[in-house]
Formats: sequence, C-alpha cells, structure tokens
Amino acid sequence: MISSNDPVSRTRKHASSNVIAIDGPAASGKSSTAHWVAERLGYRHIDSGAVYRAATAAAMHSKQVPDLWTEEIVLASAASIVLRERGDSFEPVLQGVAFEELIRGLDVTHNVSRVARMPGVRMWVNDTVRAAAEDYDVVVDGRDIGTVVFPNADLKIFLVADSWERARRRLTQRLSRRPSDAEIAAETELLVQRDARDAMQTVQASDAVLVDTTYLTQEEQVERIVALAHAVTQRASDTSPR
Ligand code: DC
Repeated sequence: MISSNDPVSRTRKHASSNVIAIDGPAASGKSSTAHWVAERLGYRHIDSGAVYRAATAAAMHSKQVPDLWTEEIVLASAASIVLRERGDSFEPVLQGVAFEELIRGLDVTHNVSRVARMPGVRMWVNDTVRAAAEDYDVVVDGRDIGTVVFPNADLKIFLVADSWERARRRLTQRLSRRPSDAEIAAETELLVQRDARDAMQTVQASDAVLVDTTYLTQEEQVERIVALAHAVTQRASDTSPR
C-alpha cells in the first residue's frame, strides 16, 4: 500500500514495501520526475539506467575496445560496482568512488545500448536494483521496471513525450540556454536513433498509466503521478478488511 509521510513505510521490508515504476524512452523526464515523486512521497529513488551506465563506464576501464566487449568482460568489469545510498537516492560506486560525471558523458551514452542488450548484464542490473529496493519504498525508473524488474509494482507509469520536445528539453538543460531549431533538429535525430537502439528494452506494461508530458511542466508531471499514487492508496484502503 502507498502512504505518504508515513515514517514506518521508509523501513518496511520488501514483502510489503511499495514500488512505483516509471518507464519510458530516453529524455522523457523519467529520472527527474522519479526523483521529485520520491521526495514528495518520502520514498527512495533508484535510477536503473545509471546502473547500465556504470557497467558501461567500468567496461571502458577494461583493455578491450567497445566493439569487442562480451558479456563476460562487462560483467567482470562491473563486479566491483555497488549502489550506495546518497540522501533519498542511490548512486553507483566503483571501487568506492562515485563517477556521476563519467556515466553521463558522451562515450558512455554512445556505448550503453550495446551493454543494455546483454541478457547477463540485464540480470545483474535487475538483481542490483531489487537488492537496493529491498528495505525501502521506492520509485524506480528505467525501461522495463513495470514489466520485468517489478511486475507487481503498486503503480506503473509510462512517460512519453514528442521527440522534438524531448530534444529541446535535453539541450536546454545541457547548454543552459535556448537551443536553435537547427540544434534541436540534430538532437532529435540522435534521440530517434537512440530510441531505435533501445526499442527492444523499452516496454510499456499493459497495466501502466500512459502519461504524455509533451505539454506538461515538470511540476505538473510530478503532481499527476503523486495524485495517481494517492488514488492507489485510497483504493487499497477502501478494499482492505476492516
Ligand atoms: O535512461 P538512460 O538513458 O540513463 O539509460 C541508459 C541505457 O540503459 C539506455 O541504453 C537504456 C538502458 N536501460 C535499459 O535497457 N533498461 C533499463 N531499465 C534502464 C535503462
């Protein structure tokens, strides 16, 4: 059951803890939305994409060039990654060192899809995410959270937005200024290519609520999901035995 501002819910064990799954394509605002929803509900946020990125960054330390990476090479490189609690979130740490800047860099972004297609890596990420979620109520964002990682999540959201708008938002964030139409067009092309590379993994659960954020502000997205979470709570308390 989902309950906001409930101090007990923060320490509940996995069997009865709450999970909100937020899936969707690249740059649909999943991670920032998941972060704010978690903050509003007093949950922890887990960004599963960051774990795929961490495995990719770790493989870059191996001697092999990305074209020759095998599942074994990536898994061996990723073996020393742990998800460390940081405030209300978790960050991937490699041999005790956080590497947020590296995992968001262009090299990792360029190579992460090939790593995310490796079945053994997907199993490792799923286990890592489930272990981190074990003791907490969580908001987990990714591509297959509502279908594979937490098929019994209390609430599943699938976030989408028009590719031009996703590109515009991403560039505005990256450049800290208003991007030109030509810049947005070039970024849209890259995003569409990334969507194609990740299409197999990006699956909307049949019971997910589709939220199109093209015309929504960040605050409106968060409000909408928090309202849906409260509706789930209400339904659960209406149907629980008295
Ligand atoms: O959301 P992101 O761009 O940080 O994701 C990085 C990569 O990981 C991207 O190729 C999609 C993939 N991914 C995935 O396959 N499954 C997830 N649950 C999360 C991310």
